[in-house]
Amino acid sequence: MINNMEKPAICGGTPVRDTKIFYGHQYIDEEDIQAVVDVLKSDYLTCGPKIAELEEKLCELTGAKYAVACSNGTAALHIACMAAGVTRGDEVITTPITFAASANCALYVGAKPVFADINDRTYNIDPASVKEHITDRTKAVVAVDFTGQSIEEDELLAICGEKKLVLIEDGAHVIGTKYNGKPNGSIADMTTLSFHPVKTVTSGEGGAVLTNNEEYYQKLLLYRAHGITRDSEQMEHEPDGPWYYEQIDLGYNYRMTDIQAALLISQLNKLPAFSRRRKEIVARYDEAFAKLPQMAIQQEIPQSDTTRHLYILRLVPEQLTIDRKQFFDALGAENIVCNVHYIPTYYFPYYQKLGYKKGLCPKAEKLYEEIISIPLYYAMTDEDVQDVIRAVTKVAQYFAK
Ligand SMILES: Cc1ncc(COP(=O)(O)O)c(C=O)c1O
Repeated sequence: MINNMEKPAICGGTPVRDTKIFYGHQYIDEEDIQAVVDVLKSDYLTCGPKIAELEEKLCELTGAKYAVACSNGTAALHIACMAAGVTRGDEVITTPITFAASANCALYVGAKPVFADINDRTYNIDPASVKEHITDRTKAVVAVDFTGQSIEEDELLAICGEKKLVLIEDGAHVIGTKYNGKPNGSIADMTTLSFHPVKTVTSGEGGAVLTNNEEYYQKLLLYRAHGITRDSEQMEHEPDGPWYYEQIDLGYNYRMTDIQAALLISQLNKLPAFSRRRKEIVARYDEAFAKLPQMAIQQEIPQSDTTRHLYILRLVPEQLTIDRKQFFDALGAENIVCNVHYIPTYYFPYYQKLGYKKGLCPKAEKLYEEIISIPLYYAMTDEDVQDVIRAVTKVAQYFAK
């Protein structure tokens, strides 16, 4: 812990806390450590029995028929696009308020990401905007459950069904969330997950694709492992012997290790507790910030029973004398270390060089100017939560118009 008492708070007085608190942090206990140690003492370090156990657990948890564990959420998106048959010349519609991987996966397969705007109350992709961006070349929609709130599944499935598009749900934030009582992961054509350490459950690096479709499943297995099969029914030639395998397509090495799978299984055992605590913190924040005219609260669709991965503070610029950067710095001076999720993907130089211009998605661009991600993680104490509320309230009231 870093002592920061000597640095004065931007809005006067002493900082609300004397040690820094960060916007996210993993929670690892002795059971997690033991699970990893057990694998290290076993015969398997890479893809072994823990992968099968994890995949079964993910299916049980989400109701999906098939799960394919992979090296990270980006790899999961890549092979989901490949399994969906997205290829050169196709278009893939996604949101700009996401991590770059949600659009990069289209570029990996030679397709063009097309950005649809968000609903400016839920911050998720707006199905009406998706509809407006469909062309003859559209092949898939990558819809992100931003902050963990479910996408509007019914509306998006109806649009994709009508236009014969594949709905890939980027569920990097979504584990633990339900849509109309059904866990996300069993609803879209494919759902991808990420288990990066700031996520609700972690395997260090890790990801998965969930699907109910056997054809996608078989392709995902191939693309995860070089395009290689050991299934004689898929082979073109008679096996030379028990060692024999064939490469029948071009895939990648996107396998997860048993070490990561064991950690993740142990983390998933704690998911109900992780979800409960995150919901409690979100409820306390919502209640406190609803009283501040300087803040707008993220709205939830009634279908989503959300395990929130991120808590987004949205400033109301008309009620404040400072901008987002100054608010962010003022919270930092109170020892509340925040982040911003996300910079619209097409703002990045790489996308600008591809010809994308600012102005594409006005609601997403306005959101980006007004948001700050404040601390939200399982191990936060009630005192931590109270400190964050006190700091936000202090800054908002000090700089109120
Ligand atoms: C919305 C979203 N999609 C995709 C990813 C990529 O996941 P990973 O970091 O596991 O590759 C992330 C990760 O941060 C994410 O937040």
